[in-house]
Amino acid sequence: MDFLVSVADFDYLKVIGTGSFGKVFLASHRENGRYYAVKVLQKHIILTRKEERNVMCEHRVLLKTLNHPFLVKLHFSFQTKDRLYLVLDYACGGELFYHLQREGVFGEPRARFYAAEMACALGYLHSLKIVYRDLKPENILLDSAGHVVLTDFGLCKEGMSGRGTTRTFCGTPEYLAPEVLLQKEYDRTVDWWGLGAVLHEMLYGLPPFYNADRLEMLRNIIYQPLVLKPGVSSAARDLLMRLLNRDRAKRLGAKRDLTELQSHPFFSSIHWDELVAKQIPPPYVPLLSGPGDLTNIDPRFTELPVPQSLGACEEYGATFPGFTYINENILSLTRGHEDRILSDQ
Ligand code: ADE
Repeated sequence: MDFLVSVADFDYLKVIGTGSFGKVFLASHRENGRYYAVKVLQKHIILTRKEERNVMCEHRVLLKTLNHPFLVKLHFSFQTKDRLYLVLDYACGGELFYHLQREGVFGEPRARFYAAEMACALGYLHSLKIVYRDLKPENILLDSAGHVVLTDFGLCKEGMSGRGTTRTFCGTPEYLAPEVLLQKEYDRTVDWWGLGAVLHEMLYGLPPFYNADRLEMLRNIIYQPLVLKPGVSSAARDLLMRLLNRDRAKRLGAKRDLTELQSHPFFSSIHWDELVAKQIPPPYVPLLSGPGDLTNIDPRFTELPVPQSLGACEEYGATFPGFTYINENILSLTRGHEDRILSDQ
């Protein structure tokens, strides 16, 4: 069986991200020369770790959310016998926290801009009954203009209504809300806690409740009162206190979700309609020589070898039926071949 888009249509150039699932590569499309981030997931890891639902979830979430300005766009997906491939936009500005690590802290206007764009993306997901759950540094990228791009939907929880809750737990703990750490029921308000944690790190240079000893930090997240040092405005501190409220029913966003955040004084200078229309110039524009530039990608990724086997012709495998996908915009350019495309929809 052959497909419109397959492994062999790309040159895999560099590693730009890693995770337990597999790796993310910078790849160029052999025909149109465009650059993409290709996330390659190893089926055997997914199957042994019982993460199949997560992967299929990531896939479905990306399918559902093709057109939000601050969420990574899925262009194609396909599979071989051993691997699943997600072909995503390449966010060439790199990880937001790569820049934060190099600069220590961000000034309030810059932190406000990123927090506002992230809030829009989260509010959008919530409106589709999706909880992002995993707002952590490596999932927040910048595009070439300096806008936020949220990636990695492996942990998203679909199908949660406004007041729905869930008890599944996974993910790295530093940015997780106390109710998730304690394996209690949780809802979309975990994302507002996550946003508070990210905003804290942008303003203070460290996540809230930070302790070099991880276990101590987990204890702090669950039990310690939040202490905010001076040095940031009272509006910013008030927002952090409200987002990092351990009681999720009282957390900012619990009642009216994104709308509640939008009317907080910290965001009073943000024109939200202009923000989602990308009409507000980003406070920092990544320095780039071209669309496939790697200068903003952490060298600890790009130094890793690219496996030769990636682009090799492999047999199609059907362990994940319905996974192979092609973006409808591209579909319209290739009319007449629809019968060869497997789609979830
Ligand atoms: N790392 C993980 N996903 C990425 C993407 N879409 N663009 C750039 N780097 C990434």
